[in-house]
Amino acid sequence: MSGTRVRDVLLVGAGGMGRAWLDAVDRRADLRIAAVVDVADGAARTAVDERSWDAPTFTSVDDALNAASADMLLNVTIPEAHFAVSAAAVRAGVPVLSEKPITPTVSEAIRLAALSRAAGVLVATSQSRRHSRGIRAFRRALADAGGAEQLGTVFFQNPRFGGFRDRMPHPLLVDMAIHSFDQARFLLDREPVSVYCEEFHPSWSWYDGGAAAEAVFQFEGGARFSYSGSWCADGLTTSWNGSWRGSAAHGSADWDGEAGVRTQDREGEPVALALDAGLEGLDAALDEFVVALEGGQRPSGEIDSNIRSLAMVEAAVASAESGRRVLLDDVFAAALAAALSAAEGDEERRTIADWTPTVNRTASDPRSLTEEQA
Ligand SMILES: NC(=O)c1ccc[n+]([C@@H]2O[C@H](COP(=O)([O-])OP(=O)(O)OC[C@H]3O[C@@H](n4cnc5c(N)ncnc54)[C@H](O)[C@@H]3O)[C@@H](O)[C@H]2O)c1
Repeated sequence: MSGTRVRDVLLVGAGGMGRAWLDAVDRRADLRIAAVVDVADGAARTAVDERSWDAPTFTSVDDALNAASADMLLNVTIPEAHFAVSAAAVRAGVPVLSEKPITPTVSEAIRLAALSRAAGVLVATSQSRRHSRGIRAFRRALADAGGAEQLGTVFFQNPRFGGFRDRMPHPLLVDMAIHSFDQARFLLDREPVSVYCEEFHPSWSWYDGGAAAEAVFQFEGGARFSYSGSWCADGLTTSWNGSWRGSAAHGSADWDGEAGVRTQDREGEPVALALDAGLEGLDAALDEFVVALEGGQRPSGEIDSNIRSLAMVEAAVASAESGRRVLLDDVFAAALAAALSAAEGDEERRTIADWTPTVNRTASDPRSLTEEQA
């Protein structure tokens, strides 16, 4: 391994996804777990012992940041803890790769983005469903057909979680739809402008909150993205990525959410596309982040960009609650005001006042086969 720099990783949140991230780090020769943190007594120790590692464990992120060496922090805590944990890391100068959502609200995300920019410390979200061979092939097909101006997904699933999701308001829009919304940004390679959304409660639903939604987003340049989703649909379920179709000037493409991607132009027969051999899921998100730490391309989930996927969720909820079309600019304006009033001290207020969302294209050319690969 001579010549390979090995980076120390601090993992915070040793629950279900935390364990998946421990294994993703373990698959890389250039990363090692330096310490694991979880507020629940014994949770971090159990996760480390299960793997027969000797990494130290902590119950407080501040203690771990003081005591352990860290080149990056993986934030895999519950969403409500994301801001505090990521902000502590940024203040300590440690770059953060966080599970989605980057924070529960756009206003907290603005505070974190401003902190990140002022400190020059990278913060990004792992939006793992934009990293699959299927979606990359579908994106290339849409680009080759001239760029989709009409894109739609249907997402029909029926999980019986039995936990907090059964009780929370807006379970589908807040806990799941961010994946589809983020995928739409990736596929269109444009940013959202507005949304009209209806959320409802099918009579048989086992959730307290509305677990079904129909939404239409307008994107820059006039493209439309429609989302039709349910978390209480028994029978004929789609894949967990949903089922997609896009129409462009020179033809159409569809994707079953897994490995099936087809395209067809005006005269030809439908053609099934081959998939690339690149990394997927957590491995791909981790790879993007390490490339950025090494001075390469910014990760596609960098907070300044990912904040727009979060804003799509907040706008969809606002539209569902008000019955009106909601502009993303209005979501950002309200969130900015909330961030300024929540700021702790003049210095943070100044960094927030200076912050504006940047247009951060997900990748320069969707037709490139190599851009998303390891
Ligand atoms: N990308 C995906 O497909 C996907 C799937 C599942 C979950 N997630 C996300 O991953 C994150 C974790 O989800 P999970 O299912 O592992 O939850 P979980 O409840 O199993 O684990 C979260 C852990 O974080 C710990 N924790 C809470 N606050 C903490 C704090 N301040 N400091 C340290 N530890 C703290 C808890 O004790 C718990 O062990 C969530 O943000 C969730 O949305 C993503």
